[in-house]
Amino acid sequence: MTFQPKITRGKTSEGRLRLVDAYLLERHRSALESGPFVDLGCGVGGLTTIESKSAIEQAGLVVEIWAVDADEARLPAVDGIQTSTALEVVDIGVLRAMNVLRQYNVDDSLAALSEWSTHLSTQGVLVEGTSDKHGELAAFFCLGRSPELVLMTTFSRDFGPWIFRDYLPQLWRRSVKPGTALFGFFRAWAAEFQASSECTDAPSRFFASLDALGIDGLKAGSIDGSAYLSLPVVWDPQNHAIPALGL
Ligand SMILES: C[S@@+](CC[C@H](N)C(=O)[O-])C[C@H]1O[C@@H](n2cnc3c(N)ncnc32)[C@H](O)[C@@H]1O
Repeated sequence: MTFQPKITRGKTSEGRLRLVDAYLLERHRSALESGPFVDLGCGVGGLTTIESKSAIEQAGLVVEIWAVDADEARLPAVDGIQTSTALEVVDIGVLRAMNVLRQYNVDDSLAALSEWSTHLSTQGVLVEGTSDKHGELAAFFCLGRSPELVLMTTFSRDFGPWIFRDYLPQLWRRSVKPGTALFGFFRAWAAEFQASSECTDAPSRFFASLDALGIDGLKAGSIDGSAYLSLPVVWDPQNHAIPALGL
């Protein structure tokens, strides 16, 4: 199975991927240090690549930075950022393809993930998912040695667990149906969230409700005022298998 890279809508905005950057710097520093950082599908002007470069530098890391977009006109012209219209870099530390697969069908999305994964270093991670325009909410796969689904929020809008449903990675977005593990997870979490009304604010309810679920392998924490939750995922890129929740 192969896929044809395509030029899709190129809209991006400042700050849109700041939660993803913060998570990678906090939880996947060794991946970041293991090879180039590649922003695949950087969008118009590579705004998010430029912001990642600055976040990575501020964290004291020295890594090659690449912006890749199928549309050459969207690539940034900035010192310290290499550019390309196709993914040619290998041994990548972090390959981030956020908000890129929304216009791809399931087969092409699977083929893209498999193909991209062959460009990773042994410690590298492939980050694929969706965020809202202003970077207040993000849901993404972090696919590497220990694949995971990460959900993040700043609580800037009314929060409830189901809010993540529309932001799930392309392969899972439409499959949160009754009877699936993910549906069961969200239903149980939403019930605990509802029951945790003794906590006064949304962040406290977020953590209390996740604790109450008592799920092995679930990790949660805070980074710079945002909260994250990580769930283990099973993924077999060679066989083009759809990643599954590893609970
Ligand atoms: C909506 S923008 C995403 C911009 C940025 N990553 C963000 O999260 O805001 C999607 C970009 O991905 C590019 N794109 C889609 N498929 C691609 C592929 N296979 N290789 C390179 N670029 C691709 C499109 O041309 C488009 O500019």
